[in-house]
Amino acid sequence: MENNKNYSHYLHSGYAHPITRSWQGDNVILKSQLIYPIFVTDLVNTKTEIKSLPGQFQISSDLVVEFLRPLVEKGLKSIILFGVIISGVKDEQSSSADKKETSPVIKSIESIKNEFPDILICTDLCLCAYTNHGHCGVLTNDGLIDNEKSIIRLGEIALSFAKAGAHVIAPSDMMDCRVGQIKKVLFENGLGGHVAVMAYSSKFASSFYGPFRDAAGSGAKHGDRQAYQLPVASRGLGLRAALRDEAEGADFIMVKPAGPYMDIIREVKDHVKVPVCCYQVSGEYAMIYHASVAGGIDLKSGVMESLISLQRSGCDIFITYFTPQLLDWLKL
Ligand code: PBG
Ligand code: ZN
Repeated sequence: MENNKNYSHYLHSGYAHPITRSWQGDNVILKSQLIYPIFVTDLVNTKTEIKSLPGQFQISSDLVVEFLRPLVEKGLKSIILFGVIISGVKDEQSSSADKKETSPVIKSIESIKNEFPDILICTDLCLCAYTNHGHCGVLTNDGLIDNEKSIIRLGEIALSFAKAGAHVIAPSDMMDCRVGQIKKVLFENGLGGHVAVMAYSSKFASSFYGPFRDAAGSGAKHGDRQAYQLPVASRGLGLRAALRDEAEGADFIMVKPAGPYMDIIREVKDHVKVPVCCYQVSGEYAMIYHASVAGGIDLKSGVMESLISLQRSGCDIFITYFTPQLLDWLKL
């Protein structure tokens, strides 16, 4: 070699062997870090594949235990439930959300707890799947968000989920100061010490939620969610929302979507002291899924790379529709 070479510029030697390669970063993801999203409906004996989310299903609450059984046998540890109202009423008050007879989430919690007492049950908390207008909060007569009425209603529904046995309440509505309200309601009812809040904090107004709105029947009839979900370009609000929710007592902070918002994940991770969760949303799932079906990328290595990269950016917990496959791929 020439004399003027700088040998510290040669990197290959540090990762030439599979073991030295494995020393270069955390490339292990555990089954216990995964949360699987499940759409539960108010129908009976019905399981329907969701067109925009191939491989994912709307499942009536009476079938949810049998749906979960093979996944639990493969090591599933945690789920997040989304209620879908198909036969029931959607109204201004989102009344189907917390009536025991009508809420698919409450029915599912009860049967899952009975059958699989060790599974961690998270419940998405929002009004959009239960309101006739499809917005995530209560509206004023002028069609604007009534933030204070919204957080009161969210607190009521959170309490009903917690009373039914949910371990984690996950508000995705993006109303201001709902974490404090939910915490207050939980503590006033003696549940604050063991029911956690996972706040969808840095949740952006994203086009990547498209397939989900199909799945949950939760799209807004008029207008969009720009008045409450965060502006795509805003780093400042991404961090402020996370810090606020942590200050209001959130046990876990979420960033959503995941892949296109890795800078936000890193920034939030560097500033909060609670574990950070990221939601690899429906549109991200659909992109990877379709690319693999088209032969463009290998599904297993593509999914693993997407999650290891999220971990590198600071993510501790992953909500992903790929959980069933990951339970086959991961060792622990
Ligand atoms: C409900 C909610 C949405 C998602 C999770 N909870 C949709 C939305 O805010 O419009 C998106 C999840 C996904 O796309 O996978 N507020
Ligand atoms: Zn919503």
